[in-house]
Amino acid sequence: MRIFLDTANLEEIRQAAAWGVVSGVTTNPSLMAKEKGADFQETIREICSLIDGPISAEVTALDTEGMIAQARDQAKWHRNVVIKVPITPAGLGATKVLSAEGISTNLTLCFSTNQALLAAAAGATYVSPFLGRLDDIGHDGIAVVAEIVSVYKNYGLRTQVIAASIRHPLHVVAAAKAGAHIATIPYKVLTQMVEHPLTKNGLDRFMADWASRK
Ligand code: E4P
Repeated sequence: MRIFLDTANLEEIRQAAAWGVVSGVTTNPSLMAKEKGADFQETIREICSLIDGPISAEVTALDTEGMIAQARDQAKWHRNVVIKVPITPAGLGATKVLSAEGISTNLTLCFSTNQALLAAAAGATYVSPFLGRLDDIGHDGIAVVAEIVSVYKNYGLRTQVIAASIRHPLHVVAAAKAGAHIATIPYKVLTQMVEHPLTKNGLDRFMADWASRK
C-alpha cells in the first residue's frame, strides 16, 4: 500500500518528504483554507517540487463545464497534478471528459460502493472513500473500503482505491488489510505510525550502553 500525505501544509510535506516514504499528496478546499493567504496554484506547484508523485488539487466548480475548465487549467500546473472531483452527476460527467483527454482524476467524497462503481465507470484514476467520516456517523468505514476493493477486483477495474479521512494509526493498518492501493494520511498520524515505546526505550538503552563501554 502506497502512502500519500493528506495536507496542504508545506512544512509538514517537507518534513515527511525527508523520510522518503511518501509517494503522493492529497489536498482539498478545507485543507487549503487552513493555509491562510496561500495561493492555490503556487502551493500545488511547491508540493509538486517536494514530492515526485500524484498531487491532488480539487476543483470548486459545481457544474460539469466549470469543473472541466478548472481541471484543464490545473492540469497545466504540473505533470503530476491529479484533479480531485466530487462524486456527483456533474463530477462524473466531467471525469468522463477528463479521462478521455488523459487527465488524471481522483473522485472524492465517496461513501459507498455504488459511488465507487460509478467513479470507475466514468474512468476515474483514483477513488477516495472517506472512512473516518463514515465511522463518525456510526457506519463501518473500513468495510466500505474492503467492499470497493473486492468489487473492483471482480471486474478487473483499474481505478485505484485511496483510503481517505484517516484518523488514527489503526485506520492505516485496516486499510492495508482491506487491500486499499493507497492510504492518504494526515501528518500527525504519519508520525504516530513510526512511534513505539519499545523502539524509544531500546534506542535509549543502546546509546547508554554504547557510551558506557570500556
Ligand atoms: C481526502 O482526500 C480528503 O482530503 C481527506 O482525507 C478528508 O479527511 P477528513 O474527513 O479528515 O476531512
